[in-house]
Amino acid sequence: KKLFAAASIALTMAAGGAQAQDQNLRIAFDVPYAPFEYKDDNGELTGFEVELADAMCEEMEANCEFVIQAWDGMIPGLLARKFDLIMSSMSITPERAERVLFSEPYYITPGGWFAHDSFDTDVTDMDAMEGKTVGVQRGTTMDTFVTENMGGVVTIKRYTTAEDMALDLEGERLDVVFVDYPVGEQTILNKDGFKEAGEPVKLGQGVGVAMRKRDADLAEEVNEALATLKEDGTYDAIMQKYFSY
Ligand code: ARG
Repeated sequence: KKLFAAASIALTMAAGGAQAQDQNLRIAFDVPYAPFEYKDDNGELTGFEVELADAMCEEMEANCEFVIQAWDGMIPGLLARKFDLIMSSMSITPERAERVLFSEPYYITPGGWFAHDSFDTDVTDMDAMEGKTVGVQRGTTMDTFVTENMGGVVTIKRYTTAEDMALDLEGERLDVVFVDYPVGEQTILNKDGFKEAGEPVKLGQGVGVAMRKRDADLAEEVNEALATLKEDGTYDAIMQKYFSY
C-alpha cells in the first residue's frame, strides 16, 4: 500500500549553485530508532532511512558520511554545521520549517500508543487518563501533542532516547508510550505482553530530509534524487524490507 502519492518534481539546478556531486555530505541519524535507523548485530548502521540515504547519495554522486546525533541536538547541530542533512524520521511541521528547509516528504508516520496488555484505559478519555504516566521522546511531534492535549491531566515523562522510553514501559515505570507508529510496532509490539492502546494520530506533514535554509540547491538535488528512486522502484524495494505494510 502506498503511504503517499509520489511527489511530482521537475526542477533544474540553479546555475552556479552548490552541487552534491563530489561534495562531502554529512547526514545525521538518531539511533536506535528502528526501523528507521539502528545498528544491526554487527554494529553496522542500518534501517529504512539509512538505506534510502545510501541510494540517494549514489543517485546524487555525493560522498556521504553518516553521523550519529541525539535527537534533541538535531536542528542545533544542523545549524551549527556539524552535518548537512537530517534523515531521522523528522516530521515536517510549520515550526521546524521556520528554521530548516525540508525536502518533499518521503514517508508518513502517525504517532502510535503502546502499553502493556493489562492497560485498559481509553487514551482519548481525559477523565480516565487522569494521573496516568505517558512517555514521549523529548522534542518530538508526540511530545508537542501530549503537552498540548493532555498537559495537566497525565504525568508526561520525556526521554532523550526512544530506547530508554521502551525500557521504562517494560519496567512498568510508564503506563503508555506515544511514539512514531512503526517504531512502537517494531520495538514494543514485537515483544509478548504489549498491545496498541489507541488509534494512531496523524502528526506533521510527513517525514522529510531537513537541510539549512541556504542550501536550496542541495534541496533540489535531494528532491530530484528521491523522485528518481521512487520512479525506478528503489524506494519501494527499501520500504518493503523494513515495513510490514
Ligand atoms: N517523527 C517524530 C518527529 O518528527 C519523531 C522523530 C524522532 N526521530 C528519531 N530518530 N528519534 O518529531
